[in-house]
Amino acid sequence: MLRRHHHGLAMTTLTYPYNNTPMDILGIETTCDETAASVVRRTADGGGRILSNVVLSQISEHAEFGGVVPEIAARAHVEVLDRVIAKAMAEANVAFPALDGVAAAAGPGLIGGVIVGLTTAKAIALVHDKPLVAVNHLEAHALTARLTNAVAFPYCLFLASGGHTQILGVRGVGDYLRLGGTLDDAIGEAFDKTAKLLGLGYPGGPLVEKEALLGDAERFALPRPMSGRSDADFSLSGLKTALRIEAEKIAPLSDQDVADLCASFQQAVVDVVKDRLRSGLRMFRLQIGNPSAIVCAGGVAANEAIRKVLHRVAFEVGSMLVAPPPALCTDNGAMIAWAGAERLALGLTDPLDFAPRARWPLQQVAKAAGATAQTGR
Ligand code: KG4
Ligand code: ZN
Repeated sequence: MLRRHHHGLAMTTLTYPYNNTPMDILGIETTCDETAASVVRRTADGGGRILSNVVLSQISEHAEFGGVVPEIAARAHVEVLDRVIAKAMAEANVAFPALDGVAAAAGPGLIGGVIVGLTTAKAIALVHDKPLVAVNHLEAHALTARLTNAVAFPYCLFLASGGHTQILGVRGVGDYLRLGGTLDDAIGEAFDKTAKLLGLGYPGGPLVEKEALLGDAERFALPRPMSGRSDADFSLSGLKTALRIEAEKIAPLSDQDVADLCASFQQAVVDVVKDRLRSGLRMFRLQIGNPSAIVCAGGVAANEAIRKVLHRVAFEVGSMLVAPPPALCTDNGAMIAWAGAERLALGLTDPLDFAPRARWPLQQVAKAAGATAQTGR
């Protein structure tokens, strides 16, 4: 039996050896423009199985604005979340009383949406007397490769989405070393802004990638910001500006111009990723040792050209790239459920008054005592 969770407790540590029993966890994701719920089973050996994974994208509702509108997103989550959860439970063929825990992304993200998902998770946890796990959305991205590929700690994570661009050392659950990150725009954001500038639509990543296939990557000489620096940081706003200047020089743009601009932009991003990741891996080896793998996560990891360069850099350092399927790289409920399962297995749960967080750096995620020493699964 679980101990009850009382309000006001900073964190409840379960006394039972949870890691040896199979668990079914419901995961809820509402931090951005995807309303998602999933049930994931963590088996006794530490493996994971996705029993259901329901993702409802709000893309069409934000498309005309060229980006996510927070207020629209929050309202849309309220409207559909109950149904998305019901569908995830039905598809998994699991009833609420049979769950072992309820996990929700408690941040970072658009606060209106985070409140909707976290509050719903709290209600389910309270009614059915289940432990709540308040999951950090970035930690969920970081741990997905353990669900899909059983990757052992420590590994190097390249996380690139619409809101985040980071290179991390993942040493254990709740144990992250930030090696580098963007000083301004996230990579996905840069793709989205490029698409907007060129009138391609939202979200921009896939559209820019498609155009790039038809274009000449060498036609425009765009900068490779931060390249050659010994840190692993990114800066993308200068690249975006350079692209705009090139586009303005030749406006009005023909279809070929648009394709060439996309190809040149994507190549610049690919080159920057190559240089920054190489640098991040040098830092990883100095500070942590040899990574078991290079792992990618976030929507940008769906980009084939970027995947290719990640493969290449991994090969160079004698490691391998682990790339979860694109549907699990972009926001989804399974990653939240899995992170919840990993935390619950270590006895890490959260009180029902856990506050939603718009900002929540990974370094501030709680870890289990002794978690650093743990290696393997
Ligand atoms: O992880 P995600 O689904 O949501 C966030 O947490 O942001 O990532 C969405 C971002 C968007 O900026 C989108 O343009 C970008 O990932 N993206 C891509 C591709 N597919 C999605 N960027 C480049 N190439 C792609 N194929
Ligand atoms: Zn995300």
